[in-house]
Amino acid sequence: MLEELHIIVCEAEQDRSLERPEQLRERIRAMDRLEDVMMHEPLELTRTGKAAWDALQRRAQARHAALAEVQRHLCDAVRHAIVHGAGVHALSGWLHRDDLRDPWGYDHLDALIGDVLSLDEPTTPIASLEHEMVFYQPTPVRHVLDLIHRTRLCGDDVVVDLGSGMGHVPLLVSICTEAHACGIERESAYVESARRAAQALRVDRATFIAQDAREADVSRGTVFYLYTPFTGGMLRHMLDRLHEEARQRSFRIATLGPCTPAVAVEPWLRAASEPDTDRITVFRSVA
Ligand SMILES: C[S@@+](CC[C@H](N)C(=O)[O-])C[C@H]1O[C@@H](n2cnc3c(N)ncnc32)[C@H](O)[C@@H]1O
Repeated sequence: MLEELHIIVCEAEQDRSLERPEQLRERIRAMDRLEDVMMHEPLELTRTGKAAWDALQRRAQARHAALAEVQRHLCDAVRHAIVHGAGVHALSGWLHRDDLRDPWGYDHLDALIGDVLSLDEPTTPIASLEHEMVFYQPTPVRHVLDLIHRTRLCGDDVVVDLGSGMGHVPLLVSICTEAHACGIERESAYVESARRAAQALRVDRATFIAQDAREADVSRGTVFYLYTPFTGGMLRHMLDRLHEEARQRSFRIATLGPCTPAVAVEPWLRAASEPDTDRITVFRSVA
């Protein structure tokens, strides 16, 4: 085991290409592996073994710090571009929705966007969830990119994220497209974090409302996004409200996760592709 950890550190030290900004995926992977070394606690060590282990730890920490510095520079540049309205250009080289085969893991794109958005942890306690409400878990960034790709958003679109958590879907939509985006989230501590991020990045096309999604104003949305924020009767109630709105006008609903089959059987919705729990599915309402 120690031999394997030693190899991880040596490889990360020797691979100078990890310092090139464009080696994002490889750098994040190397940093993750170095973190494994840094968190590892060997069971028993002799005195010489302990000295060698401490030296390896120091090397892992030093290499990790150097790579973190590369990441920091990269994120500072992207944040600067976003603040000056050029976020989509700054991000376009990095954001590829290439690997959707693993639907649920987080990857280098989540690491990058996490650093860029710098969503700070809520400062007040999180309220406990009611029955049928789903806890906060962000949509993996590659699925947000897939959402943007499949919906082909334009300046007239208003994306409403029902149960928006800390808001990175509305933030990314506003940074990467011309559309407006609104996050509705019952947990006000998350809403505060999202608003602070939007303000710091001057992303003024993203707004956030602390509210139960079932009571939200649905009159402006052109795309409603549901990453399974709730289930059962709560989802039923939301779909009934949207169905009511669909009698007035047509709009789209995009889903991800276990809510997709429930949405797919709604007779007033037509799916643009085979509904799939593990992928973004876009539906259009019909009168
Ligand atoms: C699975 S997370 C999705 C987060 C976000 N949409 C995303 O994709 O990154 C579900 C979120 O819905 C919120 N939520 C659950 N029930 C809600 C309700 N009735 N009204 C508003 N938000 C709700 C939770 O607090 C949680 O933040």
